[in-house]
Amino acid sequence: KRNVILDCDPGHDDAIAIIIAASKRSHLNILGITTVAGNVAVEKNTVNALKICELLDLDVPVYKGSQRPMVKQSEIAPEIHGETGMDGPALPEPMKTHEDQHAVDFIIETVKSSKEKVTLVPTGPLTNIAMALVKAPEIKENIEEVVLMGGGTFGNWSPAAEFNIYVDAEAAQVVFESGVPITMFGLDVTHQVIADSAVQERFNKLDNKVAVFVSELLEFFGAAYKDHFGFEGGPIHDACTTMYLLEPEVFGTCRVNVSVETKGEFTYGMTAVDLLGTTGLEPNTLFAESVDQERFWNLFEEILISYDEA
Ligand code: BDR
Ligand code: CA
Repeated sequence: KRNVILDCDPGHDDAIAIIIAASKRSHLNILGITTVAGNVAVEKNTVNALKICELLDLDVPVYKGSQRPMVKQSEIAPEIHGETGMDGPALPEPMKTHEDQHAVDFIIETVKSSKEKVTLVPTGPLTNIAMALVKAPEIKENIEEVVLMGGGTFGNWSPAAEFNIYVDAEAAQVVFESGVPITMFGLDVTHQVIADSAVQERFNKLDNKVAVFVSELLEFFGAAYKDHFGFEGGPIHDACTTMYLLEPEVFGTCRVNVSVETKGEFTYGMTAVDLLGTTGLEPNTLFAESVDQERFWNLFEEILISYDEA
Protein backbone atom coordinates (compact mmCIF):
# COMPACT_ATOMS: atom_id res chain seq x y z
CA LYS A 1 0.00 0.00 0.00
CA ARG A 2 1.20 3.46 -0.83
CA ASN A 3 0.66 6.17 1.80
CA VAL A 4 -1.04 9.30 0.54
CA ILE A 5 -2.46 12.52 1.92
CA LEU A 6 -5.15 14.04 -0.30
CA ASP A 7 -4.96 17.83 -0.02
CA CYS A 8 -7.98 19.35 -1.72
CA ASP A 9 -10.72 21.95 -2.13
CA PRO A 10 -13.70 19.79 -3.12
CA GLY A 11 -14.81 20.61 -5.72
CA HIS A 12 -16.50 18.35 -8.31
CA ASP A 13 -13.30 16.97 -9.77
CA ASP A 14 -11.61 16.80 -6.33
CA ALA A 15 -14.53 14.57 -5.27
CA ILE A 16 -13.83 12.28 -8.22
CA ALA A 17 -10.14 12.14 -7.28
CA ILE A 18 -11.15 10.97 -3.80
CA ILE A 19 -13.58 8.39 -5.21
CA ILE A 20 -10.77 6.89 -7.30
CA ALA A 21 -8.32 6.81 -4.37
CA ALA A 22 -10.83 5.26 -1.98
CA SER A 23 -12.14 2.57 -4.34
CA LYS A 24 -11.58 -1.16 -4.00
CA ARG A 25 -9.50 -0.98 -7.15
CA SER A 26 -6.99 1.26 -5.34
CA HIS A 27 -3.86 0.28 -3.43
CA LEU A 28 -3.59 3.70 -1.80
CA ASN A 29 -3.58 4.07 1.95
CA ILE A 30 -5.27 7.42 2.58
CA LEU A 31 -3.73 8.74 5.81
CA GLY A 32 -5.91 11.83 5.84
CA ILE A 33 -7.75 14.38 3.78
CA THR A 34 -6.64 17.99 4.23
CA THR A 35 -8.55 20.97 2.92
CA VAL A 36 -7.51 24.38 1.69
CA ALA A 37 -9.11 27.64 0.59
CA GLY A 38 -9.64 27.34 -3.15
CA ASN A 39 -12.82 26.77 -5.12
CA VAL A 40 -14.72 28.26 -2.17
CA ALA A 41 -13.80 29.12 1.44
CA VAL A 42 -11.99 26.42 3.39
CA GLU A 43 -14.97 25.89 5.72
CA LYS A 44 -17.20 24.93 2.79
CA ASN A 45 -14.51 22.77 1.18
CA THR A 46 -14.14 20.96 4.50
CA VAL A 47 -17.88 20.26 4.80
CA ASN A 48 -17.78 18.91 1.25
CA ALA A 49 -14.85 16.63 2.10
CA LEU A 50 -16.79 15.29 5.09
CA LYS A 51 -19.88 14.71 2.95
CA ILE A 52 -17.83 12.75 0.43
CA CYS A 53 -16.40 10.57 3.22
CA GLU A 54 -19.89 9.95 4.51
CA LEU A 55 -21.20 8.91 1.12
CA LEU A 56 -18.24 6.60 0.50
CA ASP A 57 -18.26 5.20 4.06
CA LEU A 58 -14.66 6.31 4.08
CA ASP A 59 -13.27 6.32 7.58
CA VAL A 60 -10.43 8.78 7.11
CA PRO A 61 -9.76 11.87 9.25
CA VAL A 62 -10.37 15.27 7.66
CA TYR A 63 -8.23 18.28 8.64
CA LYS A 64 -9.16 21.86 7.88
CA GLY A 65 -6.26 23.85 6.47
CA SER A 66 -5.23 27.29 5.32
CA GLN A 67 -7.87 30.00 5.25
CA ARG A 68 -6.18 32.05 2.55
CA PRO A 69 -3.13 32.06 0.27
CA MET A 70 0.32 32.80 1.69
CA VAL A 71 0.62 36.34 0.36
CA LYS A 72 -2.45 37.56 -1.45
CA GLN A 73 -6.14 37.50 -0.62
CA SER A 74 -8.38 34.54 -1.49
CA GLU A 75 -9.90 34.15 -4.90
CA ILE A 76 -12.75 31.67 -5.37
CA ALA A 77 -14.52 30.00 -8.29
CA PRO A 78 -18.27 29.76 -7.55
CA GLU A 79 -18.97 30.15 -11.29
CA ILE A 80 -17.47 26.68 -11.80
CA HIS A 81 -18.40 24.86 -8.59
CA GLY A 82 -21.46 26.81 -7.32
CA GLU A 83 -21.96 28.59 -4.00
CA THR A 84 -21.39 25.48 -1.88
CA GLY A 85 -18.28 24.52 -3.87
CA MET A 86 -19.97 21.26 -4.85
CA ASP A 87 -23.38 22.33 -6.18
CA GLY A 88 -25.55 19.78 -7.97
CA PRO A 89 -25.72 16.55 -5.97
CA ALA A 90 -27.83 16.65 -2.82
CA LEU A 91 -25.90 14.97 -0.03
CA PRO A 92 -26.94 14.49 3.59
CA GLU A 93 -25.19 16.52 6.28
CA PRO A 94 -22.09 14.66 7.47
CA MET A 95 -22.23 12.83 10.80
CA LYS A 96 -18.63 13.47 11.72
CA THR A 97 -16.69 16.70 11.98
CA HIS A 98 -13.17 17.63 11.04
CA GLU A 99 -10.28 17.00 13.43
CA ASP A 100 -9.03 19.81 15.69
CA GLN A 101 -5.48 19.72 14.41
CA HIS A 102 -4.62 22.11 11.59
CA ALA A 103 -4.00 20.48 8.21
CA VAL A 104 -0.47 21.88 7.95
CA ASP A 105 0.51 20.37 11.32
CA PHE A 106 -1.12 17.09 10.40
CA ILE A 107 0.91 16.95 7.19
CA ILE A 108 4.14 17.72 9.06
CA GLU A 109 3.55 15.24 11.88
CA THR A 110 2.36 12.48 9.63
CA VAL A 111 5.19 12.77 7.12
CA LYS A 112 7.76 12.97 9.91
CA SER A 113 6.48 9.98 11.83
CA SER A 114 5.64 7.69 8.93
CA LYS A 115 7.88 4.63 8.58
CA GLU A 116 7.37 4.61 4.84
CA LYS A 117 7.55 7.68 2.67
CA VAL A 118 4.36 9.65 2.08
CA THR A 119 3.01 10.92 -1.24
CA LEU A 120 1.20 14.26 -1.13
CA VAL A 121 -1.62 14.72 -3.62
CA PRO A 122 -2.71 18.37 -3.83
CA THR A 123 -5.70 19.14 -6.06
CA GLY A 124 -6.25 22.71 -4.90
CA PRO A 125 -3.99 25.72 -4.34
CA LEU A 126 -0.63 24.67 -2.88
CA THR A 127 -0.87 26.73 0.33
CA ASN A 128 -0.89 23.85 2.84
CA ILE A 129 1.96 22.02 1.15
CA ALA A 130 4.11 25.15 0.94
CA MET A 131 3.34 26.09 4.55
CA ALA A 132 4.38 22.61 5.68
CA LEU A 133 7.62 22.84 3.68
CA VAL A 134 8.37 26.28 5.12
CA LYS A 135 7.58 25.31 8.69
CA ALA A 136 9.34 21.95 8.64
CA PRO A 137 11.70 21.61 5.65
CA GLU A 138 13.05 18.38 7.16
CA ILE A 139 9.87 16.60 5.99
CA LYS A 140 11.26 16.70 2.43
CA GLU A 141 13.27 13.57 3.04
CA ASN A 142 10.20 11.55 3.83
CA ILE A 143 8.03 12.84 0.97
CA GLU A 144 8.00 10.26 -1.79
CA GLU A 145 6.52 12.59 -4.35
CA VAL A 146 4.06 15.47 -4.77
CA VAL A 147 1.49 14.47 -7.38
CA LEU A 148 -0.41 17.65 -8.13
CA MET A 149 -3.04 19.14 -10.39
CA GLY A 150 -2.10 22.63 -11.46
CA GLY A 151 -0.60 24.82 -14.13
CA GLY A 152 0.03 23.96 -17.76
CA THR A 153 1.22 25.72 -20.89
CA PHE A 154 -2.02 27.71 -21.08
CA GLY A 155 -4.44 29.16 -18.53
CA ASN A 156 -8.06 28.89 -17.45
CA TRP A 157 -8.11 31.72 -14.88
CA SER A 158 -6.06 34.14 -16.95
CA PRO A 159 -4.69 33.53 -20.43
CA ALA A 160 -1.46 32.37 -18.81
CA ALA A 161 -2.48 30.85 -15.48
CA GLU A 162 -4.44 27.87 -14.25
CA PHE A 163 -6.69 28.40 -11.21
CA ASN A 164 -4.83 26.38 -8.52
CA ILE A 165 -1.50 28.03 -9.30
CA TYR A 166 -3.01 31.48 -9.84
CA VAL A 167 -4.75 31.46 -6.45
CA ASP A 168 -1.46 30.98 -4.60
CA ALA A 169 1.47 31.35 -6.97
CA GLU A 170 3.84 32.11 -4.10
CA ALA A 171 2.98 28.75 -2.54
CA ALA A 172 3.39 27.04 -5.90
CA GLN A 173 6.81 28.64 -6.23
CA VAL A 174 7.86 27.25 -2.84
CA VAL A 175 6.75 23.77 -3.86
CA PHE A 176 8.36 23.77 -7.33
CA GLU A 177 11.63 25.12 -5.88
CA SER A 178 11.66 22.71 -2.94
CA GLY A 179 13.59 19.89 -4.58
CA VAL A 180 10.85 17.39 -3.73
CA PRO A 181 9.98 15.12 -6.72
CA ILE A 182 6.92 16.57 -8.46
CA THR A 183 4.53 14.97 -10.91
CA MET A 184 2.36 17.60 -12.53
CA PHE A 185 -1.04 17.25 -14.14
CA GLY A 186 -1.62 20.58 -15.84
CA LEU A 187 -4.32 21.69 -18.26
CA ASP A 188 -2.41 20.19 -21.22
CA VAL A 189 -3.35 16.73 -20.04
CA THR A 190 -6.48 17.40 -17.97
CA HIS A 191 -8.18 18.94 -21.01
CA GLN A 192 -7.84 15.53 -22.63
CA VAL A 193 -10.15 13.94 -20.06
CA ILE A 194 -13.40 15.72 -20.82
CA ALA A 195 -16.59 14.25 -19.42
CA ASP A 196 -18.68 15.05 -22.53
CA SER A 197 -22.22 13.81 -23.09
CA ALA A 198 -21.07 10.40 -24.38
CA VAL A 199 -19.03 9.88 -21.20
CA GLN A 200 -21.88 11.11 -19.04
CA GLU A 201 -24.38 8.76 -20.70
CA ARG A 202 -22.05 5.84 -20.13
CA PHE A 203 -21.86 6.50 -16.40
CA ASN A 204 -25.54 7.46 -16.06
CA LYS A 205 -26.33 3.81 -16.72
CA LEU A 206 -24.55 2.66 -13.57
CA ASP A 207 -26.78 2.90 -10.58
CA ASN A 208 -24.89 2.44 -7.32
CA LYS A 209 -24.91 5.50 -5.07
CA VAL A 210 -21.36 6.54 -5.92
CA ALA A 211 -22.01 6.31 -9.66
CA VAL A 212 -25.19 8.36 -9.22
CA PHE A 213 -23.20 10.95 -7.25
CA VAL A 214 -20.63 11.11 -10.07
CA SER A 215 -23.38 11.55 -12.69
CA GLU A 216 -24.84 14.42 -10.72
CA LEU A 217 -21.40 15.99 -10.27
CA LEU A 218 -20.67 15.72 -13.98
CA GLU A 219 -24.02 17.18 -14.95
CA PHE A 220 -23.47 20.34 -12.88
CA PHE A 221 -19.80 20.60 -13.77
CA GLY A 222 -20.47 20.14 -17.50
CA ALA A 223 -23.19 22.82 -17.48
CA ALA A 224 -20.86 25.23 -15.62
CA TYR A 225 -18.11 24.67 -18.18
CA LYS A 226 -20.57 25.23 -21.03
CA ASP A 227 -21.75 28.46 -19.42
CA HIS A 228 -18.34 29.79 -18.50
CA PHE A 229 -16.02 28.54 -21.24
CA GLY A 230 -18.53 27.60 -23.92
CA PHE A 231 -17.39 24.04 -24.46
CA GLU A 232 -19.08 20.70 -24.08
CA GLY A 233 -18.26 18.68 -20.94
CA GLY A 234 -16.04 19.43 -17.96
CA PRO A 235 -12.39 18.29 -17.80
CA ILE A 236 -12.13 16.21 -14.64
CA HIS A 237 -8.73 17.71 -13.88
CA ASP A 238 -8.08 16.48 -10.34
CA ALA A 239 -9.03 12.89 -11.12
CA CYS A 240 -5.81 12.55 -13.14
CA THR A 241 -3.69 12.63 -9.98
CA THR A 242 -5.18 9.60 -8.29
CA MET A 243 -5.75 7.76 -11.57
CA TYR A 244 -2.02 8.16 -12.19
CA LEU A 245 -1.23 6.68 -8.79
CA LEU A 246 -3.43 3.69 -9.58
CA GLU A 247 -2.15 3.16 -13.17
CA PRO A 248 0.80 5.36 -14.14
CA GLU A 249 0.99 3.86 -17.66
CA VAL A 250 -2.28 5.53 -18.59
CA PHE A 251 -0.32 8.78 -18.93
CA GLY A 252 2.59 9.88 -21.09
CA THR A 253 5.14 11.99 -19.22
CA CYS A 254 8.43 13.79 -19.71
CA ARG A 255 10.97 15.33 -17.35
CA VAL A 256 11.18 19.11 -17.57
CA ASN A 257 11.97 22.19 -15.56
CA VAL A 258 8.95 24.15 -14.37
CA SER A 259 9.21 27.61 -12.81
CA VAL A 260 6.33 29.62 -11.40
CA GLU A 261 5.81 33.26 -12.41
CA THR A 262 4.94 35.48 -9.44
CA LYS A 263 5.62 38.93 -10.88
CA GLY A 264 4.23 39.28 -14.39
CA GLU A 265 1.45 41.76 -15.07
CA PHE A 266 -0.18 39.37 -17.54
CA THR A 267 1.46 36.16 -16.45
CA TYR A 268 1.10 36.00 -12.66
CA GLY A 269 0.60 32.35 -11.71
CA MET A 270 1.89 30.97 -15.00
CA THR A 271 3.92 27.77 -14.94
CA ALA A 272 6.86 28.15 -17.33
CA VAL A 273 7.17 24.59 -18.64
CA ASP A 274 10.54 24.25 -20.36
CA LEU A 275 9.55 21.59 -22.89
CA LEU A 276 12.51 22.26 -25.20
CA GLY A 277 15.11 22.70 -22.46
CA THR A 278 15.78 26.33 -23.35
CA THR A 279 16.74 27.36 -19.82
CA GLY A 280 19.34 24.70 -19.23
CA LEU A 281 17.89 24.31 -15.75
CA GLU A 282 17.73 20.86 -14.17
CA PRO A 283 14.35 19.15 -14.62
CA ASN A 284 12.35 19.37 -11.38
CA THR A 285 9.07 17.93 -12.64
CA LEU A 286 7.61 14.87 -14.29
CA PHE A 287 5.17 16.61 -16.63
CA ALA A 288 2.11 14.70 -17.84
CA GLU A 289 1.51 15.49 -21.50
CA SER A 290 -0.78 12.76 -22.80
CA VAL A 291 -3.35 10.23 -21.67
CA ASP A 292 -4.78 7.06 -23.16
CA GLN A 293 -8.40 8.21 -23.00
CA GLU A 294 -9.92 4.82 -23.67
CA ARG A 295 -7.96 3.22 -20.84
CA PHE A 296 -8.76 6.15 -18.55
CA TRP A 297 -12.52 5.89 -19.00
CA ASN A 298 -12.53 2.07 -18.91
CA LEU A 299 -10.66 2.13 -15.66
CA PHE A 300 -12.95 4.81 -14.29
CA GLU A 301 -15.95 2.64 -15.16
CA GLU A 302 -14.36 -0.33 -13.36
CA ILE A 303 -13.79 1.89 -10.35
CA LEU A 304 -17.42 3.01 -10.25
CA ILE A 305 -18.66 -0.56 -10.66
CA SER A 306 -16.40 -1.63 -7.79
CA TYR A 307 -18.63 0.43 -5.51
CA ASP A 308 -21.53 -1.91 -6.37
CA GLU A 309 -20.56 -4.40 -3.72
CA ALA A 310 -20.20 -1.69 -1.08
C1 BDR B 1 -8.60 23.24 -10.90
O1 BDR B 1 -9.38 24.31 -10.38
C2 BDR B 1 -10.47 23.83 -9.66
O2 BDR B 1 -11.60 24.55 -9.99
C3 BDR B 1 -10.58 22.35 -9.97
O3 BDR B 1 -11.08 21.64 -8.86
C4 BDR B 1 -9.18 21.96 -10.32
O4 BDR B 1 -8.45 21.61 -9.16
C5 BDR B 1 -8.64 23.29 -12.41
O5 BDR B 1 -8.07 24.49 -12.87
CA1 CA C 1 -9.55 21.21 -7.04
